[in-house]
Amino acid sequence: MKICKTISELIEWRNESETRNIGFVPTMGALHQGHLSLVEESKISCEKTVVSIFVNELQFSPEEDFDQYPRAIESDLDALKTLKVDMVFLPNAKEMYNEEFSVVVNELTIAQKLEGASRPGFFSGVTTVVSKLFNLVRPSHAFFGQKDIQQLAIITKMVKDLNYNINVIGCETIREIGGLAMSSRNKYLSNREKEEASILYQALKLGKKLLLDQASIHHIKTEMEKLIIKNKKIKIDYLSVAQLSTFEELEGPVDHKKFKIVISGAVLINDVRLIDNILI
Ligand code: PAJ
Repeated sequence: MKICKTISELIEWRNESETRNIGFVPTMGALHQGHLSLVEESKISCEKTVVSIFVNELQFSPEEDFDQYPRAIESDLDALKTLKVDMVFLPNAKEMYNEEFSVVVNELTIAQKLEGASRPGFFSGVTTVVSKLFNLVRPSHAFFGQKDIQQLAIITKMVKDLNYNINVIGCETIREIGGLAMSSRNKYLSNREKEEASILYQALKLGKKLLLDQASIHHIKTEMEKLIIKNKKIKIDYLSVAQLSTFEELEGPVDHKKFKIVISGAVLINDVRLIDNILI
């Protein structure tokens, strides 16, 4: 497994790789089975697989957890070696952002909503770094988790609107046995808190059931909220029932056969922010 720490090493590797059939999995490391499932998907459908590990400061606001964000390079590299990844791109911040760096990539509609509204600057940081990584790696396929459904939608839009010749593949959310979506930030939680946090997924499943039973959006959100706030330690940032293609909030009666719907939520448990979603 080749490890490239600099852009020039990466370019050299890329120029020497004889195939255009390259799958790419961008990550911020502290890899868990959710990340590794994307790598496995890429291994199945592409000739070569590239993984990047870069904790991208540009997508963290000053009050967020950039300094504490879990880092586990050695065990990450071991896991990627076991999966026979062809190349890992492991740049440092200076390599990615020169001192005069002043150009960013912004998506202007979906990125304003939900995660974008709660975390100003977050999606701008994501689209900027992913666009740089796409330019460098020049993959044929890129794999993203449905767990970060808004990120997946925004990257899909970026690829379309900026004419990247890349197939963006969304992969299913991998969960702990109790239902909690795997996340690098779960490392901040105790086992007890992880069990408690699985209430978010239970609420999403309840929302889906009520939606299929044709309940009103107001009723769906109220019932989900009631379930979550039974646990006083958990605070709700948002609960949303939206059209998947636009992330526009739905109101009134909804015909779920007309378009895809995403029910999503963000909660805080002991100040750790967790997100999850379910598709209908
Ligand atoms: P990170 O949170 O490390 O996630 C990397 C990829 O793994 C993303 O596509 C994410 O959706 C996927 N992923 C995370 N948890 C998952 C789970 N439980 N099941 C399936 N897939 C999961 O997302 C980022 O990094 C960054 O924003 C990045 C795209 C790398 C840009 O910096």
